[in-house]
Amino acid sequence: MRATSLPLYLLFLVARAALTLAGPHAVLQRAHHFAASRSRGLVSDLRLAFSVVPPRRRQKSGLVKRNGQCVVALGITDSKHSSNDEGASGDNSESSTQSNSSSASSSSSSSGASGSSSSTSTRAAATSSSRAAATTTSQRQPTSTSTTASQPSPTPASPWRLVESHEGLDFFEGWEFFTFPDSTNGIVDYLNEQDGRNANLVSVNDNNNAVMRIETTPTVAANRKSIRITTQSTWNGGLFIMDAVHMPTGCGTWPLMRGSAFWSNGPSWPTGGEIDIAESVHNYTNNQATLHTSPGCRLPSSNPSDLGISGSLLATQDCAVATTNNEGCGIRSPDSNSVGVGFNANGGGVYAMLWNGDGISVFFFPRGSIPSDIFASAPRPTSWGLPQARFPASGCNPSQFFTNHHLIFSSTLCGDWAGGVWNIAGVPGQEQSCAQRTGFSTCEDFVRASGASFNEAYWEVRSVKIYQLQS
Ligand SMILES: *[C@@H]1O[C@H](CO)[C@@H](O)[C@H](O)[C@H]1NC(C)=O
Ligand SMILES: *[C@@H]1O[C@H](CO)[C@@H](O)[C@H](O)[C@H]1NC(C)=O
Repeated sequence: MRATSLPLYLLFLVARAALTLAGPHAVLQRAHHFAASRSRGLVSDLRLAFSVVPPRRRQKSGLVKRNGQCVVALGITDSKHSSNDEGASGDNSESSTQSNSSSASSSSSSSGASGSSSSTSTRAAATSSSRAAATTTSQRQPTSTSTTASQPSPTPASPWRLVESHEGLDFFEGWEFFTFPDSTNGIVDYLNEQDGRNANLVSVNDNNNAVMRIETTPTVAANRKSIRITTQSTWNGGLFIMDAVHMPTGCGTWPLMRGSAFWSNGPSWPTGGEIDIAESVHNYTNNQATLHTSPGCRLPSSNPSDLGISGSLLATQDCAVATTNNEGCGIRSPDSNSVGVGFNANGGGVYAMLWNGDGISVFFFPRGSIPSDIFASAPRPTSWGLPQARFPASGCNPSQFFTNHHLIFSSTLCGDWAGGVWNIAGVPGQEQSCAQRTGFSTCEDFVRASGASFNEAYWEVRSVKIYQLQS
């Protein structure tokens, strides 16, 4: 942490709290709480925001500020927000029909030709905004528009249209490579894209899958090199589908694929919320989908059948960071192949996160059980059966707790969670603790001394696709 970053960071919190929320006093108290408890991650994320946001976005925010840095940082939120307003409002207006499979499919098929033509024009708008974001925020200049949809229009049976797609050789177009200290105190150094490619930690393999690895040097003195990527685009609802064939696993690892506001656990965290879609540590085999929010977001029930889920509650119905020691409300998958060795042995699978006016749901489909509508890029979540996790709007209104989310892949080592449960056994896949399995008394000592253990600590991703409702 650099001492010189702190004043800027506090100014930012003040400006953001005053501008964005109804209760500035309460927000400032929270801001101070997080300033105290999470200053390292906050400052690093703020530095990222300041360093990559182009000044020209300033003009789009239309807000009056006294501090140039605040103008820039707020501008990114506002301009990206506006580029997705159409998707967000479509979401809200159609969310009730989305919950009803027969009405959703009949309304979209009855809209027929007009539906697909409006889809084409809105997709063109999304393409240009995404391209604009790429050319202004990326350190490199993308040479193609491959981060946006290039497929033909989805069939009318799906209420969703593909607006952003990452796969194949161009997978890494449209992401920022995060290069600041890990905000969860893991012992990794995140590399930029060029360094990552040079170190063979970032690649597209012979199967056309994107690979993100962790350094396997036998011993290191401090941190291992790793990769963390964040979409340049932000979203206020939609359907987010990731197809992966491999996830990091093994003692010390902590892979996470999530949606989160403002790059990461940034200055306003958890305002704007975090949706952990696929996450595990160590040898865990069952995914934990979790929300981390500001106060007031809850699961309305602890009963899986009331919630309409296949998973089970981990600890608490309370999703608020402040009252759960950062834990949030987690739901564990019943599937022992949803992360870790089980996931990898089965060739992975598909995660889908549905975020609309009804709430937030996370679905998992193991390889071999992936609905064909997903492969057709014409997804119909109402036909998918029970989600692993669901956080209904009745307990947690998404429009209140979640805003401007990026998708983020990260692979850290040790840190708050993986380091914290090094000695814990009894979780599916972790019948023995990692302390027992490795003979090392701390996560950090094991990680620094055991490079070969991280040969399995890689993401291999076939695609990431982002959909918005047909409008
Ligand atoms: C949902 O579908 C049922 C059966 O087709 C229909 O009767 C009902 O009105 C629909 N509900 C909504 C909210 O559209
Ligand atoms: C757990 O992780 C350790 C260290 O990576 C590995 O050696 C071991 O095989 C794993 N055990 C299981 C059951 O996956």
